[in-house]
Amino acid sequence: MQNEYVKICKMEDIKEGIGQRFDIDDENEAAVFKIGDEYYAVDNVCPHNHNAKIYKGDLQDKHVTCPVHGYRFSLLTGEQPDKPGCRLRIFEIKIDGGFLYIKKPGRKIFDFHF
Ligand code: FES
Repeated sequence: MQNEYVKICKMEDIKEGIGQRFDIDDENEAAVFKIGDEYYAVDNVCPHNHNAKIYKGDLQDKHVTCPVHGYRFSLLTGEQPDKPGCRLRIFEIKIDGGFLYIKKPGRKIFDFHF
């Protein structure tokens, strides 16, 4: 169901500046980041070449850089600030009772922004 949130982890499991990967369901996996007091969840699969390594990306200015070919995506919008093109999926999160939840995403579509 689309409005369903999936319990992912305890908040304290996410370390500052270090991405972690989690399965949301059989088809979707997330890369979760903590920057300061904020948490971000995005698709762990890069839309450029579909490598599941976003969680290993470097963080800077609320952007993550895919370690495979260096595409840079906003953690807030999923867009690339440097050039138009493919967009990283952003997942809605909620914090409840010390746990982080991710809203189950809808069907996976490939989103290009020109
Ligand atoms: S697979 Fe991520 S930039 Fe190419």
